Amino acid sequence: MANERIVSGAAREEDRGSEGGLRPRRLAEYIGQERVKETLTISMDAAIQRGEPLDHVLLYGPPGLGKTTLATIISAEMGANLRTTAGPAIERPGDMASLLTQLKPGDVLFIDEIHRLSKLVEEILYPAMEDYSLSWVMGKGLQAQSINLKVEPFTLVGATTRYSMLSAPLRDRFGSVYRLDFYDEAAMQAIVRRSARIMELETDEGGVEEVAKRARGTPRVANRLLRRVRDFAQVRADGRVTRDVASQALGLMEVDALGLDEVDHRLVRMIAEKYGGGPVGLDTLAASTGEEADTIMDVYEPYLMQLGFLNRTPRGRMLTRAAYEHLGLTPPPRLAVGQPQLWDSTGQ
Ligand code: ADE
Repeated sequence: MANERIVSGAAREEDRGSEGGLRPRRLAEYIGQERVKETLTISMDAAIQRGEPLDHVLLYGPPGLGKTTLATIISAEMGANLRTTAGPAIERPGDMASLLTQLKPGDVLFIDEIHRLSKLVEEILYPAMEDYSLSWVMGKGLQAQSINLKVEPFTLVGATTRYSMLSAPLRDRFGSVYRLDFYDEAAMQAIVRRSARIMELETDEGGVEEVAKRARGTPRVANRLLRRVRDFAQVRADGRVTRDVASQALGLMEVDALGLDEVDHRLVRMIAEKYGGGPVGLDTLAASTGEEADTIMDVYEPYLMQLGFLNRTPRGRMLTRAAYEHLGLTPPPRLAVGQPQLWDSTGQ
């Protein structure tokens, strides 16, 4: 079949991997993100009543919060086929054109990392999103001929960790835009409980709380930690995940009480010890820690900001007093209690 390289109707590598059977398949099983669920349900019910495909949906937020899961759920709830691809896989306008012309009526096309589509590829998408048409130029120079192709009515579900990197014309063509937030404690516990049940893993409330608390408000992290805790419980204990067992296992993995790992600690220490708490630029931080700037920005910073440990300021990244205190470091005088803070901890 054509396009196997750029699109797959079946699960992608990541989906088949460690999270496999733990992902909810229907909205009723999906825990948390209540506002997203409610508005999405209304839009889907309305589209179904009208016999139309759902309007295009953009999902954004840090990795691991359920963007791919929601795309799968949308296709299931709409009774549609899911076609999955990712921005970097669609290299040329022709790839996009052939992908679009192969869609069947009502298909859901999921493009992960949609911010990584090139401008030329994006331009193929605009008329397809707007009125299900596609204009394609055949030949070159004087022989060039523009032909209009029909695209079947479809729903584009785009996902990105970088809303700001999406071009305005692309952003404007989505009928709804949902920001996924980190999950609160109660939702994380419910997710851990559900995953443990599916894994037939015996836990007590203390064990559930401990894993949930250290999972950075991120279901994918919770499921990963839970599997490692299960290994530990099996080999070093009686198989049951209690608070003590979870705590020992996570300690061994260098995941601290707030879910910060070795890389978070290295980042915070670097800013504190080498840059006096900041401000320090992202690229400087990447160079001095050996982590990719994109990874720092997409994976590490959002959670550090959520905890109120880090602020992005116009002059660079700055630590807050809370970050120093959590790592047991002495804050610089300007962060001493009682000093007015130029930047509050909301990350503005
Ligand atoms: N597994 C991963 N994400 C989930 C969610 N939001 N609800 C239930 N289970 C999940």
